[in-house]
Amino acid sequence: MKHVLLIFSAIYLLSCTSPSKDPIDEKVEILMKQMTLEEKVGQLIQYPSHEVNTGPTVKNTNEAEDIRNGYVGSLLNVTGNESTRQLQKIAVEESRLKIPLLFGFDVIHGYKTIFPIPLAEASSWDLEAMEKSARIAAIEASSDGIGWTFAPMVDVARDARWGRVMEGAGEDSYYGSLVAKARIKGFQGESLNGKNSIAACAKHFAAYGAAESGRDYNTVDISENVLREIYLRPFKASVEAGVATFMNSFNEISGVPSSGSIFLNQQILRGEWGFKGFIVSDWNSVTEMISHGFAADPIEAAIKGITAGCDMDMCSKTYRKHLVELVKSKKVNEKLVDESVRRILRIKFMLGLFDDPYKYCNNDSTVILSAPHRQHAREMAAKSCVLLKNEVKALPLSKELKKITLIGPFVEEKISPLGNWAALGSGVNTVSLIEGIKSKLGENAIISYAKGTDFNGTDNSGFKQAIEIAKTSDAIVLALGEPGWWSGENKSRTNIHMPAGHEQLIKELRKLKKTIILVLYSGRPLILTEIEPLVDAILLVWQPGTEGGNAIADVLFNDYNPSGRLSITFPYHAGQVPIYYNYKNTGRPLTDEKCEWCTKYIDAPNKPLYPFGYGLSYTQFDYSGLQLSSEVMGMKDTLKVFINIKNSGVNAGTETVQLYIRDITGSLTRPMKELKNFTQVYLKPGEEKKLSLDINVKDIEYWSYGNEYKAEPGKFEVFVGRNSIDNQKASFELK
Ligand code: BGC
Repeated sequence: MKHVLLIFSAIYLLSCTSPSKDPIDEKVEILMKQMTLEEKVGQLIQYPSHEVNTGPTVKNTNEAEDIRNGYVGSLLNVTGNESTRQLQKIAVEESRLKIPLLFGFDVIHGYKTIFPIPLAEASSWDLEAMEKSARIAAIEASSDGIGWTFAPMVDVARDARWGRVMEGAGEDSYYGSLVAKARIKGFQGESLNGKNSIAACAKHFAAYGAAESGRDYNTVDISENVLREIYLRPFKASVEAGVATFMNSFNEISGVPSSGSIFLNQQILRGEWGFKGFIVSDWNSVTEMISHGFAADPIEAAIKGITAGCDMDMCSKTYRKHLVELVKSKKVNEKLVDESVRRILRIKFMLGLFDDPYKYCNNDSTVILSAPHRQHAREMAAKSCVLLKNEVKALPLSKELKKITLIGPFVEEKISPLGNWAALGSGVNTVSLIEGIKSKLGENAIISYAKGTDFNGTDNSGFKQAIEIAKTSDAIVLALGEPGWWSGENKSRTNIHMPAGHEQLIKELRKLKKTIILVLYSGRPLILTEIEPLVDAILLVWQPGTEGGNAIADVLFNDYNPSGRLSITFPYHAGQVPIYYNYKNTGRPLTDEKCEWCTKYIDAPNKPLYPFGYGLSYTQFDYSGLQLSSEVMGMKDTLKVFINIKNSGVNAGTETVQLYIRDITGSLTRPMKELKNFTQVYLKPGEEKKLSLDINVKDIEYWSYGNEYKAEPGKFEVFVGRNSIDNQKASFELK
């Protein structure tokens, strides 16, 4: 193994480009010449603070002394102007070379104004709105000391058991790529040195979402084809969007932990995609290569990490303890360290930290939780709601309603709706559901409320009171589901139902034969098969953030017509997981549920409960007249796909028109459907529009036999519709 590493280091270093004329590179070189080996290694070290803890405890260090000596390049989880300024002062006024620190933090879905969790935002299919959320998050964070966010998480997630599905854009790599680009643009602004631009970080590289059994941190073993086709695409898109940094994932792929993967970090990310930013490990992931059984001890972990091109060591102190000695004893080539240092310094220069190290402590912090930021949080939360069921038009509710009953532990709750990874979001600033409904209906409405059960659904002592108040009500709104802290890192679940007591409460209330509206909170797809027939409407609100209560009231009372569409499949049964819309056909496809020798379950349908792309509206959109500009597409052509959409209902609303293709035959087998384009259209009642969507050859390319992205001639089907199942079909041939 040692040989392989040494040979690789030599080849890699030879291939490094000669110094360019880029002014930033020149500045980096001038600085590098003055740095001691200890100071260079210092740039590769990231210390955690103990203000906020986002991983296993790391022993306290003498951070001030280490910063003064130039042994620290970055800190995470230090927030606020005062704390960051204090540490920055030591770095730039007391250390020999005055190299500024970079402060990183998980600004995932807002800083203090908290937006819906990323999976919820992805349900909006509104890329501009998502970019705006990230922009606002950057504005707030950059006014409070933070220059680097560990976001966006661009992991494709096909397994609802995995708690981190809440952090990403769902199961589709095409859509996930667009969302990744939008979020990166939002965080980084027009240019990295902008006043309130912060560095973004595409994470977790790579295939973290494919953890076996949906158990966090677990082994990943996938083919290169699936890796390239599904899991890597949003990362590639992140490089195209100019993301400043990458973060390694905790998992191994085919026996190699990501922080030690030459294949991922050097060959693909830097070699094939030309990534010029730097890579940070995940929390302790360099040392964790020992537990993986990939490194015998911290020394070997440090060698493997730096050789693989993992530039910055988050928390593990392995680089800090061993790299200097390893270079001195010639076990690590100093040039490898130099390359990592260059990449980190480059980003610090690009951010403008050398011009103004206090850049992020000087911005106007009165913008935090400002009215426009809260307004966007409200709009975003409304756009993220997905109407899953609406029988007998149970929704929308009338504002004339005199008496409304609210039941459930989420009704008054202010912390859970912020969801996991809520940065510095606080319940003090959250609008609860009951507050939102009260301000919508005004003083005269009679609102009765009972908690019914607790978050875990284990204390059912409140059932009796809930049933009592429900008896005399005009409308029952149930606020139930999965608490915010049940999803996120290390929150894998085998049972992806609502808490048992919540389901039980629904069953009890159903006996009253009243209209029941379920406002469903969740950070992942849940199994709703049993309770779905027991309620009249289901509005999925995910974990909606600071303005959740107002936004949900907007949707319930028709000030916003729900437009959210799922970007992740809701299974019928947990035994179907992983389940996703872009599955392959197999040699024995399911023709009908009775077919004997077909791929199927004998105890459950093959279909999900709610497919990818699904969501209802308070109006009806009719699709007609699917047409292609041609039945033949040349290798340089763009095919135009036309469709008429009519709003035949009584409310104005936004429809998300989705375009899928199927590549019928390939040198490698192809999925039954792949999303390739979509557009949103707002239509008034009775209004009709002819829409045009493009298919480019680039969109058809896939990681084909021969290991390259290629579009292959042959027959294709095109599907246009309201979700991945309900759509119209046409065909063309690529020649
Ligand atoms: C998570 C990362 C996060 C880091 C720092 C890790 O445990 O996996 O996503 O950015 O902690 O908080």
